[in-house]
Amino acid sequence: MQTIIVTGGAGYIGSHTIIELLNKTNYHVVSVDNFSNSNPQAYEKIRSITKKKFDTLEVDICNEALLNEKLAAFKNSAGIIHFAAFKSVPDSVADPLMYYHNNNASLLNMLRFAKNNQIRNFIFSSSCSVYGNANELPVTEETPLKKAESPYGHTKQIGEDMIAFFCKANPNFNAVLLRYFNPVGAHMSGEIGEFPITKPNNLLPIITQTALGINSLTVFGNDYDTRDGYCIRDYVHVSDVADAHVKALNYVIEGKNKKNISLYNLGTGNGVSVLEAIQSFEKVSGKKLIYTVGPRRDGDVIAVYANNTLAKSELHWVPQYSLDDMMLSAWKWQLNLEKNK
Ligand code: NAD
Ligand code: WQD
Repeated sequence: MQTIIVTGGAGYIGSHTIIELLNKTNYHVVSVDNFSNSNPQAYEKIRSITKKKFDTLEVDICNEALLNEKLAAFKNSAGIIHFAAFKSVPDSVADPLMYYHNNNASLLNMLRFAKNNQIRNFIFSSSCSVYGNANELPVTEETPLKKAESPYGHTKQIGEDMIAFFCKANPNFNAVLLRYFNPVGAHMSGEIGEFPITKPNNLLPIITQTALGINSLTVFGNDYDTRDGYCIRDYVHVSDVADAHVKALNYVIEGKNKKNISLYNLGTGNGVSVLEAIQSFEKVSGKKLIYTVGPRRDGDVIAVYANNTLAKSELHWVPQYSLDDMMLSAWKWQLNLEKNK
């Protein structure tokens, strides 16, 4: 049985991806996480949803000696999916060095582990934040990247460049860079989602917490030059994002890739305004959301959404879940978290 190493497997997107891997493939999975932004409970939830076994290692991937020691038993793995990173834009502005260290040292160590052990297939979590305030909409993979708006976005640009140069020097190594737009929602069972370690910054968890009265939503501006004045984003269900990883992994392991580095946008292609997101939440939850409209947030892009034609045609990835599904699953998960407090 081939083994896949998943770094950051206890995290939000990593845990949903392990579920898809266990449910849809025969790969053996080993997750590597230090729980810096997650909780070991995620592993129990994965086991209870899938009824399947997988291995877990607790290690800081930045500690290369310990990483190599712990991963020694998995040297013959067929591929690596590298999620582990810090992801908060404001935290990265406050402490850039922590972000450059964690995000880029961990990537470097995983690439070195791959090189030293001839592990040839690598999937990397990138972000639409690499596009910044893009010149064109929808954004294609060819849209030129702008100077990063934050150290976080810059760590992803550097990560993509590191992988590209590594691929150029190592023609036998295959990498897929996946640029996620706005992953939201939770597994449709409502049994697993994002375990909040700190106060969330992203819209969806703030909406669901506000509906329960444990947070208060301030909408960052409604005077933008968009169809209703609110910012527009491409929200994509986390299980669809997870499914794209399974497809990307099979694509390279089965040798279907034409180049040794491929790049895909992962978004639904639909631009949704903050107001439309709120209205969808109100519809599926049956709850009226009390919120205020405040000033614009510094650094917010006005509108960004994906052209996902390439992921559809090459990976055969077709997002399955609607905006209402995203809202309903996020709400079910929030209610579950509250119930188990
Ligand atoms: P997350 O914080 O929920 O998961 C990341 C996981 O990596 C956590 O479990 C954390 O404990 C672990 N981790 C971090 N640094 C580590 C280290 N040095 N050693 C071991 N484990 C470490 O985040 P997520 O939302 O699941 O994001 C996964 C990836 O996707 C990240 O690379 C992130 O930058 C990227 N991404 C996320 C989004 C999003 O909106 N969630 C959007 C675009 C890209
Ligand atoms: C979405 C919309 C806000 C909170 C960030 C990262 C990006 C990627 C995804 C990792 C915007 C509005 C939000 C609030 C609001 N992550 N909003 N009130 O900024 O699109 O992207 O997460 O790679 O890199 O930058 O996501 O969820 O913060 O905001 O009005 O309290 O919700 O203005 O229009 P964003 P978000």
